[in-house]
Amino acid sequence: MNILVTGGTGYIGSHTLVELNQAGHDTVVVDNLSNSSRRSLDRVEELVGKRIPFYEVDIRDRQGLERVMTQHRFDACIHFAGLKAVGESVEKPWEYYENNIGGTLVLLDVMRRNGCKNLIFSSSATVYGDPAVIPITETCPKGHCTNPYGQTKSMLEEIMMDMQKADPEWNVVLLRYFNPIGAHPSGRIGENPNGIPNNLMPYVTQVAVGKRPELGVFGDDYDTPDGTGVRDYIHVVDLAKGHVAALKAIERRCGCAIYNLGTGQGYSVLQVVKTFERVNQVPIPYRIKPRRAGDIATCYSDPAKAERELGWKAQYGLEEMCRDAWNWQRNNPEGYGDR
Ligand code: NAD
Ligand code: UFG
Repeated sequence: MNILVTGGTGYIGSHTLVELNQAGHDTVVVDNLSNSSRRSLDRVEELVGKRIPFYEVDIRDRQGLERVMTQHRFDACIHFAGLKAVGESVEKPWEYYENNIGGTLVLLDVMRRNGCKNLIFSSSATVYGDPAVIPITETCPKGHCTNPYGQTKSMLEEIMMDMQKADPEWNVVLLRYFNPIGAHPSGRIGENPNGIPNNLMPYVTQVAVGKRPELGVFGDDYDTPDGTGVRDYIHVVDLAKGHVAALKAIERRCGCAIYNLGTGQGYSVLQVVKTFERVNQVPIPYRIKPRRAGDIATCYSDPAKAERELGWKAQYGLEEMCRDAWNWQRNNPEGYGDR
């Protein structure tokens, strides 16, 4: 297939480009580089041995998107582009709604006008809020999102489902990611956060490399085995492969389909820290801090539907996630070195 990848220079997008091209698909990337480096694409090209057309275009720029769409004929779009920092979204709600919802509305319109009605969307386990059941299946009701970022994911899911209902030519696959971590085993591409990392693993790797003195563990009084938060961490390469598998749903004209992409296994913050230390032989000093506003105790998936319907199952375990996250950070202490 020929696939438009929005947000393709970002963390998950760059790993997905590798898997798509290695599976024989062609890809074209659109990204405004607001949270990524153009250099990630050079690394992807090096890994797949192929040139990948790139357009520095904002998805809110209708003319820009039109130009890309008329230059290429796409069979499908995988839509990663968006802002994703939970805390920042509370400070700047308008910017999040305008970029994520406004941008996606422009993208959907340009797609349908150009006859491309196959879409895979990056949603998030955040739409479940504080989940009603654990492990979380796709039939679990959506919950209350405590921040504008989560609201954009939940609202965009509704918008896409409504559009698909009104026009059955659309095929929409909503992928609800659990917690992607790690990096490509080559160490050539990985997560490249701007400033102080919000998420656990990039913070851990920055402590490991000496950029930050210690990790703050947000709360040790949750109702979990060791009191720290439990999440379903998934290797970013497994997550990327989930997108290749999701194309099968498009091929069989799924209408609208929702899949959890997780491993089904929950680990606590301290389990992650201990595993990282053991696998990589690097100490991670940490201090228990108060709970972070909006966090929940436990979140992990039931990933059986994706295995049943897409033949996809995560292969990597926590040890490989820790190994590859460190391999990337150690070999690229300044990320792609351009910000
Ligand atoms: P990322 O920030 O690395 O990638 C997003 C990319 O989108 C960046 O390259 C950024 O420059 C680009 N972008 C942002 N706004 C744009 C716009 N208006 N026009 C064009 N490009 C734009 O983030 P990621 O971790 O790779 O996440 C990819 C997607 O997956 C996002 O939609 C995110 O919300 C979603 N997601 C991420 C996680 C996670 O933990 N990383 C979890 C669940 C869902
Ligand atoms: N944590 C710490 N210290 C840190 C960072 C995180 O103790 O410095 C803890 C958190 O309290 C939580 C766990 O580590 O218990 C994971 O936190 P992350 O910030 O890495 O991930 P979240 O589960 O909070 O959220 C992430 C993304 C969301 C996405 C969600 C589900 O940031 O965008 O996963 O996919 F919606």
